Amino acid sequence: MNVRDVRKRYLDFFEKRGHATIPSAPIVPENDPTTLFTSSGMQPLVPYLLGQPHPEGERLVNSQMSFRAEDIEEVGDNRHTTFFEMLGNWSLGDYFKKEQLPWFFEFLTSKEEGLGLSPEKLSVTTFSGDEESGMAADCESVTIWKEIGIPDERIFSYGTKKNWWSRAGVPSKMPAGEIGGPDSEVFYDFGLPHDARFGKECHPNCDCGRFVEIGNSVFMQYVKQADGTFKELPKKNVDFGGGLERLTAATRGNPDIFLIDVFDAARKVLDERSGRAYGTDEATTRSYRIILDHMRAASFMLASGIRSSNTEQGYVLRRLIRRSIREADKLGIKDAVLADVAEGFGASYASAYPFVQSAAQTICEELEKEEGQFRKTLTNGMRELEKMKEDIDAFLLFTTYGFPIELTEEMAKERGVALDMQAVKSKMVEHQALSRAGAAQKFAGGLADHAEQTVRYHTAHHLLLKALQRVLGPEVHQRGSNITSERLRIDFSYGQKMTAEQKAEVEKIVNEKIAEAMPVIRTDMKKEEAEKLGAEREFGATYPDTVSVYSVGPLDNAFSIEFCGGPHVSNTNELGIGGKKFKIQKEEASSAGVRRIKAVLE
Ligand code: ALA
Repeated sequence: MNVRDVRKRYLDFFEKRGHATIPSAPIVPENDPTTLFTSSGMQPLVPYLLGQPHPEGERLVNSQMSFRAEDIEEVGDNRHTTFFEMLGNWSLGDYFKKEQLPWFFEFLTSKEEGLGLSPEKLSVTTFSGDEESGMAADCESVTIWKEIGIPDERIFSYGTKKNWWSRAGVPSKMPAGEIGGPDSEVFYDFGLPHDARFGKECHPNCDCGRFVEIGNSVFMQYVKQADGTFKELPKKNVDFGGGLERLTAATRGNPDIFLIDVFDAARKVLDERSGRAYGTDEATTRSYRIILDHMRAASFMLASGIRSSNTEQGYVLRRLIRRSIREADKLGIKDAVLADVAEGFGASYASAYPFVQSAAQTICEELEKEEGQFRKTLTNGMRELEKMKEDIDAFLLFTTYGFPIELTEEMAKERGVALDMQAVKSKMVEHQALSRAGAAQKFAGGLADHAEQTVRYHTAHHLLLKALQRVLGPEVHQRGSNITSERLRIDFSYGQKMTAEQKAEVEKIVNEKIAEAMPVIRTDMKKEEAEKLGAEREFGATYPDTVSVYSVGPLDNAFSIEFCGGPHVSNTNELGIGGKKFKIQKEEASSAGVRRIKAVLE
């Protein structure tokens, strides 16, 4: 099967069992400053898993674009990627283990409705309990798997490290307010011989590549308390996630996910340009995989509006591009190649994510620009290297020119100069530890920050957008946003610098609405109805048939109405607690035709 078949079969299977299909959320989460990327299907659904009703009901299904920056170094083996599609189905307090496990098994094995995988190839794992947090073993799942027909020797139990899921990991790592629960995973046995480098015996969680995890049913039923204990959530949920690419690989009986259809066109380009076929040797295959993964991720990022830079999402994109150039270099490709590699992804995803194909030209231009610049960096680094003659400082070349250490080492070797690699490496470790410390918080795993002040800024954001439309004109719309507990930031479409009078007028309107103590109301309604009301859309978002909107004031007499999932304060007067006033700190150009405002409540 190809990726499209598997995606469609999964959505159809769960729709037939009462689930509403919801669109993929954007790859950059809206209004969540604590994480750079959407990294799992449940991330945009946290408020609903916590108990808020979802406008589409209690059974949901989708395929979510996901990106895991923390996996970047893992890419190169047969199954890890940074970008992937996560197939997900959810029960928001509706069905639980007795339905979830048999359904997923049926999906995997049914020839008519599912993937037709052989049941003998499936092994499952369950939670063995945890003394530290007082969590009991999940015996119910073991019983269900036995009833389904999985024999004892293919049912394994592990502790919190393997069979407990939360965005922050094991129970002790979870912050207060975070949700999690025991999980049950399914592994596909590709029947490869065990690789002894990974341990004496093979088992589902062995990393040798024989067993690949193809689905994870999380029984999301606990929330961590401030005192470190766990409380049951008001409703017991199911949060299932399965990698679409891995499931497709299982239908082909080949564990190499880079051989599935979506990579075909890109692989062909690398084959033609390098003259070295995929699979020639381990090093070649690894370089191919890194480029294939990174260019697919880069295509989705560029199509989502991210641009290469030295901060936040832009930094991750730049890293993907630069790593790809280095790998292309290793394949012997010395001229620009990335735009050609990326080109095929638009067609591969034309039906599921048409926005990638629509952005084809931008993707090509941005990749060409970035590749051109980095190749120049390489040339400059080379020149500096020449100047250094015998006294080569590989660390300086790396930090100043971005010149890869391995490359310096290779060229010094060529000239018969021995580098003190020990010294370079220890400097690098120090350098990386510093940058990792900075990045760690961001990459830690995407915790939604619902701190009170952040919620207030979110509501202030709605007031500000409306005030901008009143003062600057109705054609002003949001083009991006970022909210922390310190301030809010909005990017909006407007071609000129705002005057001091305009800024003062906007501040005045927002402060009036705070003083008027207006209720902030959430209403669920049909998308068309929300459109008729003129509800403001979030930039780049796609909406399901039923949506939630937030209005400041009652719907029939609202100051502002926006498509939005919240959370918000319940009354605008909460923004003024302690005599705080809304204030614009900065108004500046963001990009062509887009201005940026940073504002605070102080
Ligand atoms: N949220 C679960 C995961 O990401 C399904 O594995």
